[in-house]
Amino acid sequence: EELTFAEAIEKARYSIHRLKLKDVHGVPLLEPIAQSWESISAFCPDPSDLLIATYPKAGTTWTQEIVDLLLHDGDAEACKRAPTIVRNPFLEIVAPPPVPSGLELLSRMTPPRVIKTHLPIQLVPGGFWKNKCKVIYTARNAKDNLVSYYHFDRMNLSHPDPGPWDGYVRKFMKGELAWGSWYDHVKGYWRAKEERNILYLFYEDMKENPRREVERIMRYLGLSVPRGVLEKIVRLTSFEVMKDNPMANYTFIPNIVFDSSVSPFMRKGAVGDWTTHFSPEQTELFDEDYARQMGSTSIPFRSS
Ligand code: A3P
Repeated sequence: EELTFAEAIEKARYSIHRLKLKDVHGVPLLEPIAQSWESISAFCPDPSDLLIATYPKAGTTWTQEIVDLLLHDGDAEACKRAPTIVRNPFLEIVAPPPVPSGLELLSRMTPPRVIKTHLPIQLVPGGFWKNKCKVIYTARNAKDNLVSYYHFDRMNLSHPDPGPWDGYVRKFMKGELAWGSWYDHVKGYWRAKEERNILYLFYEDMKENPRREVERIMRYLGLSVPRGVLEKIVRLTSFEVMKDNPMANYTFIPNIVFDSSVSPFMRKGAVGDWTTHFSPEQTELFDEDYARQMGSTSIPFRSS
């Protein structure tokens, strides 16, 4: 009998505890991903597949839920058919058996599929570009993204221990966290967006006017849903509703891996929470370094 995703994770819990990072073409990735790199980079999608790409904690799950609802005409029940990670496989994730890898889950589905990745653009399997797949990229301002990642690394016991806050800020600045440099990540997709037809979204825009952004996604996907359905999708993908949706709030990952007593996956869902974490000194140091790392690339981030 087939195990549920949660049961499989329970069984594998000891072998996924505080994994190490390993360099893949200059990007630190979780060790099991690095070990399977050859098969991951050889993955070839169908031209009808859609890729949702983000730096970790930029609003991946939110974007995924909006897309799933758009593809299902706002049918809330249809979008509760399975947990997020099963509905939209996480391309590069590898866990020990019996947990299915992203590639395994993908092989069981027929296109068109919605695929999630945190890979920086230069590591995305070439098949996505060759087949001209649609790609949605969601970016979040650096400091909020960092705060969210910090709390996530505290609660996600499969990631390396984040250590104290001050050191974590430095690691983020140096690109030493899992999936590497936030700066290179947002810049890489930004530079490629015209040529590769990438829809580039901002978390802050989605917070400010979710309806406008849901409509942008709808148009990009070539869909047209009635106004009432659009309003419904905006409601169903609000932080408050998603926080209580067991198929979207990651409570389907057992507490021994995602320890929600440390910090829930659906934590605050707000813009500007960095102000409650950064000291004035940290802000100064961070901003100076930010200007240097972003250089002449002016991505219109707000509230950073
Ligand atoms: P916080 O830790 O700041 O609360 P990801 O899905 O990429 O892992 O990102 C998770 C972050 O997005 C968390 O941020 C989470 O609370 C937030 N989030 C998830 N769903 C959201 C929604 N519907 N609206 C706003 N923020 C959301």
